Parts: sequence; C-alpha cells; structure tokens
Amino acid sequence: MNDDTFIEKTLDLSKKIDIGFVKKFVVFDKLSSTNTKAKELVRNGEEEGTVVIARMQQKGRGRFDRVWESPDGGLYLSIILKPDVSPDKTTLLPLVAALAVSTTIHNFGLSTTIKWPNDVQVNKKKVAGILLESDAHKNQLRYVILGVGVNLNIDVNLFSGGLKNVTTSLSQELHFVVDYHKFLENLLLTLDTYYSMFLNCEFDRIISEWKVQSDTLNKRVRIVTSSDDIIGKAYDVDQSGFLLVITDPGEHKKVMSGDCIYFDEL
Ligand code: BTN
Repeated sequence: MNDDTFIEKTLDLSKKIDIGFVKKFVVFDKLSSTNTKAKELVRNGEEEGTVVIARMQQKGRGRFDRVWESPDGGLYLSIILKPDVSPDKTTLLPLVAALAVSTTIHNFGLSTTIKWPNDVQVNKKKVAGILLESDAHKNQLRYVILGVGVNLNIDVNLFSGGLKNVTTSLSQELHFVVDYHKFLENLLLTLDTYYSMFLNCEFDRIISEWKVQSDTLNKRVRIVTSSDDIIGKAYDVDQSGFLLVITDPGEHKKVMSGDCIYFDEL
C-alpha cells in the first residue's frame, strides 16, 4: 500500500463506522511519535475522541523512556481522552486499554495474556504495548493520551538487539498477513466497549475481566520501580489496578507502576 492509499483508506474508515468515542481521525504517513503529536494537538485545544494514526514512527516511545520500534506493518495510534473522572481513577486506564488490545488480538484467532499492567503477549512474547500519558491540574484531569502499538505485520527478526527474542507479531504467529483496517476497526470498537465500562464506573468488572486475561497473578515476580526493587509473589490487583505482592520476607507491597519481570524469564 503506498502512502496516499494508507491515509485515504484509514480516513475512509471514519465514514463507515460509528464508534461511540471516536470523533475524528488524523492520519499521517510518518510521525516521530503519535503520542507526541496527540499531546501537541490536545494542548492546542483538540477534543476527546481524536485518534492520531501513523503508518510508521521515527521515534516511537515506550514505557520507561524505551524506544518502541515502529516500522511499516505495525499499528501505531494515540487517542485523546478527557474522561470526566477524578485523576486517581486513571490508574485503571492501563488495564482498560490492555483488555481492549488483548481481546482484539484474541478476536483475530490468537490466545493472548496480559502481563501487569498492560503488556499484551502471545506465546509469552510481547505483541503489543500501551503508553498512557496524562495531565492534571488541582485534582482536575485535563487529558489522557492513550498510545497503542501493535506488532501487526512485522518480521520481528529485524528488530534490534535482544528484542527479537522477547517479541512477536500477529503475522508471525498466524502465518498470514492481517488486514490492517479490519484490525483497526475491531480495536476501536473493543476499546469503546471497555472505555464505556470505565466511564460507567464498572470498576469491579474491569478488574475481574483483567484477572481472567492476565497471567501475572500467582507468579513469582521482580518489579523494578523508580525507587524500589521488589521480589515476591504477585497475589492480586486492587481496585486501582495496583499490583499486590508479598515479598519473600512476608512484607505486603502495593505497586503502582513498574517494570514486571517473571522469575522464569530471569
Ligand atoms: C510499551 O510497552 O513500552 C509501550 C509502547 C507504546 C507504543 C505506542 S505506539 C503508538 C504510541 N506512540 C508512541 O510513541 N508510543 C505509543
């Protein structure tokens, strides 16, 4: 597909489908990062429901300032959200997004799991990642940028360094090329379902569905945070989506955010 066809076909999708929270598509051939672009747009007054999409990213960003490799064939989008909730509720959004991405990939025929908080995996390898960035002022949420990257039709053997050993793509697992626009449509519809659940304050339902799809609970984990390095057994997630871990000396820890490594991967 050439650059113009990509943009035309993606924009055409917005005419054909009626997805509750999606108001507008802004489509690019190449961007440095869809999250960075969405942030620029929201700071200039763009409203909730704008979806920024790029065929490729030149400086795709992952969690913890990592690089998100973003060649042609992947799906890279960022959505501007302005949920009318208190900022402390946004800690559940990573789980909401992971549920939507995991369910969509499952709809395309693959068995998926979620590693806390929001890595989506197939056969224990990462296939999609989510980056949420938000801004709040005086306990008032201004915006959330929900960035999603999916390794759709990518040969991960071309990824740099050790990444190729821990990542996979839909095409690599399914042995066929996945229709980009069908996947995008399915993802946005599924996201709308889970985002509506969030807006309707169905937090218990979100947590229990996340638990069904996650493979983190009851595993021995190492969680590296900006201030701590925790080793123990992950035994639950609470109402905020925080991971509850019992350390080897028997101390209970509540982890808000961090890099989760399973012990069998160390
Ligand atoms: C992670 O698992 O580290 C999160 C990766 C998030 C990548 C997506 S791709 C679209 C959006 N734009 C970015 O620069 N990052 C996110």
